[in-house]
Amino acid sequence: MLVFVPPHPLIKHWISVLRNEQTPCPVFKNAMAELGRLLIYEASREWLPTISGEIQSPMGATTVEFVDPREPIAVVPILRAGLALAEHAPSVLPATNTYHLGISRNEETLQPSVYLNKLPDKFPEGARVFVVDPMLATGGTVVAAIQLIKDRGVDNKQIKVIAAVAAPPALQKLGKKFPGLHVYAGILDPTVNEKGFIIPGLGDAGDRSFG
Ligand code: PRP
Repeated sequence: MLVFVPPHPLIKHWISVLRNEQTPCPVFKNAMAELGRLLIYEASREWLPTISGEIQSPMGATTVEFVDPREPIAVVPILRAGLALAEHAPSVLPATNTYHLGISRNEETLQPSVYLNKLPDKFPEGARVFVVDPMLATGGTVVAAIQLIKDRGVDNKQIKVIAAVAAPPALQKLGKKFPGLHVYAGILDPTVNEKGFIIPGLGDAGDRSFG
């Protein structure tokens, strides 16, 4: 498994806004969306086949390249907090399909449970999937999400996880269960506490995005 933390000042900036407990809810949600825009931009770099053709510019004929719209990237936001991180995916990527997945973590047992599944019965051959969830803490949620996607015909190498903050328990679990997976994170934090919160983290990303 590969974990990328793109070294961009804007990524550091938005993480800092998210970490600040003084950041009000709409600003937090906007910061999460901006962070998602940058991470999706980075993660899509090798995943966008292009087609070339001739067009007329105002100054004459020229050869151009467009991202092939026949090969949309599948975006799977994990509700609720993933909705904010995935908000700009359709404006960064010329072609996407969004499949919502609602997973909540039990506050005591920390076990994930799926309450909404809009995944297709089977993904098309060669589908490329972004799993978008801001917090990778114990890893239970993201592992459950990836398993559902793999059960629908997608190989580990065709899945990328987009996260704001990733912690060691989640990364260890992902590395063991899904070799070949790529993770794009805004920052790596060192600890998960006994209540399942990442330290220093951002707090509860769902509550802070949606109140
Ligand atoms: C949070 C977070 C992740 C999950 C991470 O979601 O947004 O989805 O917990 O925890 P894990 O790695 O230990 O499984 P939560 O269940 O609070 O739902 P929400 O997004 O609706 O707030």
